[in-house]
Amino acid sequence: MALKHQAPRGTRDLLPAELERWQWVEARARGVLARYGYGEIRTPMFEDYELFARTSGEASEVVQKEMYRFKDLKGRDLALRPEGTAGVCRAFLEHGLASQGRIHRLWYMGPMFRYGRPQKGRYRQFWQIGAEVIGTLAPGADVEIITLFVDLFEAWGFRDLTVAVNSVGTPAIRARYGEALRQWLAPAREKLSADSQRRLEENPLRVLDSKDPQDLAVLGERAATMPKLLDALDEEARAHWTAVLARLDAAGVRHEIDHGLVRGLDYYTRTTFEVHDRSLGAQSALGGGGRYDGLIEDLGGPPTPGVGFSIGLDRVLLMLEQRESAAAPAAGGVFVASMDATRIEVPALVRALRREFTVDCDLEERGFGAQMKSAGKSGARLLVLLGEEEWKRGEVVIKDLGSGDQQAVRREKLEDTLRERLRRPQESPAR
Ligand code: HAM
Repeated sequence: MALKHQAPRGTRDLLPAELERWQWVEARARGVLARYGYGEIRTPMFEDYELFARTSGEASEVVQKEMYRFKDLKGRDLALRPEGTAGVCRAFLEHGLASQGRIHRLWYMGPMFRYGRPQKGRYRQFWQIGAEVIGTLAPGADVEIITLFVDLFEAWGFRDLTVAVNSVGTPAIRARYGEALRQWLAPAREKLSADSQRRLEENPLRVLDSKDPQDLAVLGERAATMPKLLDALDEEARAHWTAVLARLDAAGVRHEIDHGLVRGLDYYTRTTFEVHDRSLGAQSALGGGGRYDGLIEDLGGPPTPGVGFSIGLDRVLLMLEQRESAAAPAAGGVFVASMDATRIEVPALVRALRREFTVDCDLEERGFGAQMKSAGKSGARLLVLLGEEEWKRGEVVIKDLGSGDQQAVRREKLEDTLRERLRRPQESPAR
């Protein structure tokens, strides 16, 4: 039978088994972010289209090709958010956060939307977790943000990450560098993809960001003579860059300079960074970020520097599945089974136990054999059995579903005993 509806192309349903991993990833992240002292912020999933056009850049791929832009019933020009930074900065201004302290450390998590061609690791609705430090130009903020970025990956079990770093200077430096890039690519112009020939006119730095095999071949052939952004930095931008590198070394963050790292959004200034995992194929960026010292001013605010990152959670989850290193579902749990005479007691007991434990039971109130089968399948570690005789005496039986050991305990002692038993390492099944 053909289904009448499917999830829209590029979107996915996340089902309970998968969500266990997601919850684990989110919980680990929340722990790290709390210890770093970042406060969570939630902004709308859609905003004025103009907010994104102004910040990500009219000429960026995201704005030109990937926006979910729509008019509401009153004709307002809106768009689903393709990223989180613009909304966070808008909220920062709208709520006058600047008057509540000089430096703000914020984080967010939620779905973002980009109309790209769906493929492994690339979706039209995807999840990001991101953090921003708003209010200081100090290199220490860049380093804290990069350290936090790496520590999130470490909390998810990624080891020995190397962060690619670069500096994209200021808009004036980039304009000069763009000219140098244009001249460097001019002899190979015809060999570039049609898109990159256009980029060469509009914004030559974008050519460095292209994933097109034709462009990659041209860039590869000419790599040795490519002009470098770092060589184009002015004194101030260079001093910032050197200070960031020195502090990254001091903090023990492994990094390497990537001269081609220009990022896909237009708001970046100075430091940019990314991490990739090539096993993901073409969509290999797990996360990235950088400084955006002009963004808040562009939105009509006072000059206010910022630096931040976002991590693509769908890609992180893909990696964890590949490595099977995400937490196994928590072992534990209790199944409550009853006899005919004690069935009526189950809802109250289950409800009481669920204040502390993960508890399952048979909703269909079937016979004892069927309940035992369900208990076996449930993944529960302990069975709490309400035997008729025991219940009358004020007792229940606890059975270890692995080893088969049984123990009768007073009802008043049930919670204490479960707590103590579930804390013990799991016994191997009886042979
Ligand atoms: P971005 O590099 O555009 O940066 O996105 C960050 C991450 O989101 C990417 O590295 C990737 O893992 C994930 N991502 C992007 N597009 C998709 C997609 N279509 N499907 C799945 N995952 C995707 C930003 O968004 C900036 N807001 C980062 C930032 C924060 N810069 C400063 N502050």
